[in-house]
Amino acid sequence: MKLHLIAAARPNFMKIAPLYHELQQDPLFDVKIIHTGQHYDKNMSDTFFTEFKLPAPHHNLGIGGGTQAEQVGYTMIAYEKVCISERPDLVIVVGDVNATVACSITAKKLHIPVAHLEAGIRSFDISMPEEINRMLTDRIADYFWTPSADADTNLLNEGISPQKITMVGNIMIDTLEMMRSRIETAHTVSRFHLAQKQYAVCTFHRPSNVDSRSTLEKLLRTLVKVSETTPLIFPIHPRTKKNIATFALDNIIANSAITLTEPLGYSDFMHLVFNAKFILTDSGGIQEETTYLGIPCLTVRNSTERPITIWEGTNALVSVDHIVDHVYQIEHQQFKKGKVPDLWDGNTAHRIATILRNIQTSDKQK
Ligand code: UD1
Repeated sequence: MKLHLIAAARPNFMKIAPLYHELQQDPLFDVKIIHTGQHYDKNMSDTFFTEFKLPAPHHNLGIGGGTQAEQVGYTMIAYEKVCISERPDLVIVVGDVNATVACSITAKKLHIPVAHLEAGIRSFDISMPEEINRMLTDRIADYFWTPSADADTNLLNEGISPQKITMVGNIMIDTLEMMRSRIETAHTVSRFHLAQKQYAVCTFHRPSNVDSRSTLEKLLRTLVKVSETTPLIFPIHPRTKKNIATFALDNIIANSAITLTEPLGYSDFMHLVFNAKFILTDSGGIQEETTYLGIPCLTVRNSTERPITIWEGTNALVSVDHIVDHVYQIEHQQFKKGKVPDLWDGNTAHRIATILRNIQTSDKQK
């Protein structure tokens, strides 16, 4: 069974790694990794291939950055050539980045079936590029592998046949468990002169938080305020770094208790998360990792496509104006305790391998 695993941007590399290693164990599967090249800096891409012991991508489409349309368009043009020459039996796309939708459309138009891992999640905020990518991918995919029951409900509401949907659990938890010993033995906390459970981690890169000068300025001023009681470590995404420089906002954080660093590798970053008092973020995946670990997470967004982390976990959506109040609650042990959602257990890749064997068997019988 010839499989293409599509990866483009940082959060994708975490999602394909446990799946690649699981599928490699069975000679039934011939797995190729296609890297579209959307993320290209060493610390946004190569580091993860090394850490997760992934082989070099079998194809690197080298599309680089650019506008949304450029990324989607160039990915489609380049991936079509690969699809035509290799004719995979199934294309597996993950998450919600531009390549997820671009490669899905390309494969489907060549009559190659598509499986979407992390299908069905919705923020219902169509101003987010990721929500558009999720909706369009789920319009045309053939197999829907979901992380939680709310995603199944969303797909059923959109008219997807229940036979095509399988709740497989959260693949990011497989990655975390696969890497646990590396995470626990990292020395990131001491390297940054932090003390366990005495600091918070922040990450911000969503256009809604960092693309407008006034919004970014207000956010940075609030982070400085938080850092007066809890030191912050801020591994900074290229988009955010670029915008801080463009808007000349560097002086706000200079001399504060905020440590800025380049984006970190997975084990280093997760070591900081494991030992943090709380997290401030606009990321998708970090909402899930903190819920699994029982660490308070304040997500600075109006909506989340991962509501289960709020209903069951330790995540809360907050506006910039309310960050300081929520930090007070955390500092005074008034923040909620969570539980781990069903099937977030480190066995998602194994479930997917079983599904693929069943697909292969039923295809043969046809
Ligand atoms: C993308 C994903 C987002 C994901 C995020 C994680 C989409 C629509 N968005 O957003 O869902 O949460 O990745 O990181 O696919 N850049 C570099 N070096 C790099 C990568 C990017 O300098 O290695 C620059 C780009 O040229 C661009 C900016 O950073 O100017 C933003 O990159 P882009 O790929 O457009 O989207 P992200 O904000 O990273």
